Amino acid sequence: TQILLLNGPNLNLLGLREPEIYGHETLADVVSACSELASELGLSLRAEQSNHEGVLVDLIQAARGVAAGIIINPAAYSHSSVAILDALNAFAGPVLEVHISNIHKREAFRHHSFVSARAEGVIAGFGTEGYLLAVRRMASLVAK
Ligand code: DQA
Repeated sequence: TQILLLNGPNLNLLGLREPEIYGHETLADVVSACSELASELGLSLRAEQSNHEGVLVDLIQAARGVAAGIIINPAAYSHSSVAILDALNAFAGPVLEVHISNIHKREAFRHHSFVSARAEGVIAGFGTEGYLLAVRRMASLVAK
């Protein structure tokens, strides 16, 4: 069973970018920890990152019929992208949304996420550990 881990814009700079908010772990660290946990749970993880909204839409579309579920940190596109929401609505499996920071504690423009209307669950403010929690939850969701 494959699950897709999708990260949006600027998350390629994880660990380097605003470490006081997002921590010192890199995206490669996060992906390898998630892959390890996923395989312990009997899942295979495919991880992708893009800075481009349309590429994220293409990746979500390509997951149709291939991935059992999607874990997504849409980053800044959370707050603006109806296109990513629509792509997720065209995907049949469960979707979990992750934010490293607590978006509700930050600027007002970060409080709303379009993706949350589609997500089974949302994790925010758990740092990069949130991704691991999402992998665990996804394992139970796709087992059902
Ligand atoms: C983020 C929160 C977003 O508001 C921000 O634009 C990001 C990262 C997070 O993981 O906390 O790039 O999604």
